[in-house]
Amino acid sequence: MKHWTKSSWKKYSANQQPQWPDKIKYEKVIDEIATYPPLIFDKEAELLKQYLADASDGKNFVIQGGDCAETFIDFNSKSIHDKLKILLQMSVIIAHGASSNVIRIGRIAGQFAKPRSMQSEIRGKDAFPSYRGDAINDIEYNKIARTPNPKRIIKAYHQSAATLNLLRAFTNGGFTDLSKIKEWNEKFIANSNTKEKYDEIVKKINESVKFFETIGSYNPNYNMPFKMAEFFTSHEALLLDYESALTHQNEITNKWYCCSAHFLWVGNRTRNIEGAHIEFLRGIANPIGMKISSTMTPNDLLNLCNKLNPKNEKGKITLIARMGSKKINDYLPDLVNIIKKEGLNVLWMCDPMHGNTYKLKSGYKTRDFDTIVNELESFFNIHNNCGTIPGGIHLEFTGEHVTECLGGTDNIIDNDLENQYDTACDPRLNVNQSLELAYRITKLLIKNKECNNV
Ligand code: PEP
Ligand code: CO
Repeated sequence: MKHWTKSSWKKYSANQQPQWPDKIKYEKVIDEIATYPPLIFDKEAELLKQYLADASDGKNFVIQGGDCAETFIDFNSKSIHDKLKILLQMSVIIAHGASSNVIRIGRIAGQFAKPRSMQSEIRGKDAFPSYRGDAINDIEYNKIARTPNPKRIIKAYHQSAATLNLLRAFTNGGFTDLSKIKEWNEKFIANSNTKEKYDEIVKKINESVKFFETIGSYNPNYNMPFKMAEFFTSHEALLLDYESALTHQNEITNKWYCCSAHFLWVGNRTRNIEGAHIEFLRGIANPIGMKISSTMTPNDLLNLCNKLNPKNEKGKITLIARMGSKKINDYLPDLVNIIKKEGLNVLWMCDPMHGNTYKLKSGYKTRDFDTIVNELESFFNIHNNCGTIPGGIHLEFTGEHVTECLGGTDNIIDNDLENQYDTACDPRLNVNQSLELAYRITKLLIKNKECNNV
């Protein structure tokens, strides 16, 4: 294997990089980022890797989720709080219902760059660069807004740092204690159907917490056995200059860590084995994800896994299947079987969002709740049949009552989408759809445990 450095990716072709108009200004920004402090610590990334290794053995279940694209405008305490809350609520539903330990990874504090199918967006006679995420350009449709501006990378770094700071405060400050479960629920669940189910879980957990308090093994001020404190961050490692500027070597272990997030993934459009993204990711010690669609062949998958994880380290690779409900049954089984046959250590995760996106006549991009659930069911069935572990789920959701995906407990229909369609990129599940999905996942996990006699 060729020698790796944090810049060796520059010798390969990098897809989906913005066309920065002023190269000198851009390079100055990247040099400045390289002087900034890391956003995460090596040890945290290693801890997450251990949890993911355990998830690949069926001991944990992972929920990874958040916005498709974070934005500068939606940057406030409430929105961060609500996203954390939804992840916690989903965790409680799954942990309680399926007796699984849940690991939480947010698509947050760094998810600011997007791959796009088209270089430009054409409207009438105009053609301006496509929106590529707030770290690059502005979603507004005019020439100035859409021209990539490197100053935005600096803003994305600082927003990531401030978001992470608040997340750390929430988790260390007690907000994530299980005994606070009622507070997570406040003014949150409008739909009575979901609320009733959730309230029942809250009641049962409160009883258990009380019991442990009574017998003295739980004191919220000292040891906190019920604290769901740990929270990890992730984003797509798309902007390679940014990611490599934040990559540092641990002086004791000599391992390299990309310190922009705990977990980084390579997208479906940049996972070319000869490309720069794979070259960069093969050298870092963080746990990494790879999105895979129906275009992935078993042979390519083996080669990619061997390149990204030559030592076959457990917890290092998460394969995030995003095939679409119509294709998953035809394409995923062969991939799962070959990985099993070759004895490669991976964690299998399902992204039931990106293969099920379509555009309505009205112009809105959407996804249907039932189709999302169908893909998830297929994912679990495939693993049950192959004797492998469905270890997690990768979602796009928000803590708000948006109307971006169809269906779910609120039965959102085409005409409702315009009511609150706020996403800067792909449509996200709203609060009730996310909680309902957590119940569906719970059922699937219970069935999976029965199949495997766990
Ligand atoms: C995403 O996760 O927002 C994304 C662009 O995914 P994919 O690479 O799977 O299309
Ligand atoms: Co998306």
